[in-house]
Amino acid sequence: MKNKKAALDRIGILGGGQLGMMLCEAARRLGVTVTVVTDDPTSSAVYLADNSIVAPLDDLSAVARLIEASDVVTFELEAIPDETLDLLERAQAEGKIEVHPGVDTLRLIKDKGLQKSWLQDQGLPTLPFMLADENVDEGAVLQSGFCAPLVQKTRRGGYDGKGVQMLLEPEALSDLWPVASVIEPALEGCLEVAVVVTRAASGETSVYPPVTMMFDPALNAVSTVISPGDLSETQRIECIEVATRAIQALDAAGVFAVELFISTSGEIFINEISPRVHNSGHLTMEGFQCDQFEQHLRAISGRPIAPTEPRAPVSVMLNLLYEDRLSPAHTGVPYTARLQEAGQVTVHWYGKKEARPGRKMGHVNALGNSREEALAHAQSGSERLQSDTFQPPEGEAISKANGS
Ligand SMILES: Nc1ncnc2c1ncn2[C@@H]1O[C@H](COP(=O)(O)OP(=O)(O)OP(=O)(O)O)[C@@H](O)[C@H]1O
Ligand SMILES: [Mg+2]
Repeated sequence: MKNKKAALDRIGILGGGQLGMMLCEAARRLGVTVTVVTDDPTSSAVYLADNSIVAPLDDLSAVARLIEASDVVTFELEAIPDETLDLLERAQAEGKIEVHPGVDTLRLIKDKGLQKSWLQDQGLPTLPFMLADENVDEGAVLQSGFCAPLVQKTRRGGYDGKGVQMLLEPEALSDLWPVASVIEPALEGCLEVAVVVTRAASGETSVYPPVTMMFDPALNAVSTVISPGDLSETQRIECIEVATRAIQALDAAGVFAVELFISTSGEIFINEISPRVHNSGHLTMEGFQCDQFEQHLRAISGRPIAPTEPRAPVSVMLNLLYEDRLSPAHTGVPYTARLQEAGQVTVHWYGKKEARPGRKMGHVNALGNSREEALAHAQSGSERLQSDTFQPPEGEAISKANGS
């Protein structure tokens, strides 16, 4: 029998990417141990986890070992196989583990179709949509009352803009993917905002200030995040209200990011909810007293949620999407390095072995007194990283507390 304590000390994470890695960093600060399951022995979190189980996420014997090793199990991605969720649910019902956010939440969110229907049923603002199957064609779309500009999103398995295609012109409807998908109007020129919300099992919530995000148009992937976002006071309050309402309706514990669109006419829509720490919250690492990773561990392990005090008026994050110019920064292991003192510019390199063009390899965080200043610091930090004079710290610069 496991000794149930008020605060849970053994965390299990399904997934081993950079989000898992940064959760491991926070776990060290909190003094809790982490076991990860990942199918890739070279993935970022493996370097920092106390224990790693190298197996695919649908390997039920590996998941059973994770359950044995954990008091609470959490996720760093939403694409968790159904049979794994079923096993976690049984283990939770038998009192072996807690699972946060809950299995029902994961089932709902990992399918964009179910998620959109849920948002609509809850009366939360979201764009109108149609659910398409693999037989979808232009005729079916037009018959449902939708026309270009549209966006098609695969119901399952998409991330970082993969699984999303913009169909902006009427002719583009002949390019529809024959897959189960969500089709919705493309909101051209909208502002993209995210609110990172922490919710404890007790229902207590806390938010970081809404951020604005800028996207790489070719990849549909976020490139720059600014906190606080460039919003009016009314918009700021409305974004927090909508995001908090959505997370309260989910009734789950952990950190969540609510991605919002604000249309050119000022209407707010929920794009999607991520049931995990999120790219829009990476700037909390240097920018806030307690970052999203520690908040998540606090919320899922029964520890009090920490205050979300900023350390500077503005913080900025730039994603480092791989291109050849970044080769001076590329090492096969994770590290954190200060790039310049002014503006406290820091690089978090994820240590992914393989550098593919467009792949998220790390991010730069910078602080400033204004948006312009913080952006300029981040930009010069990123340039410094690309210069031949940049020397990455040797070895694994985020030191390992315990062997695995
Ligand atoms: N209806 C829309 N109108 C305009 N742009 C959209 C729309 N839907 C998606 N996009 C663009 O595509 C991006 C990715 O879409 P979405 O968030 O649904 O997919 P994703 O693959 O789950 O993304 P991620 O993993 O990056 O959060 C959005 O952030 C936005 O830039
Ligand atoms: Mg998204």
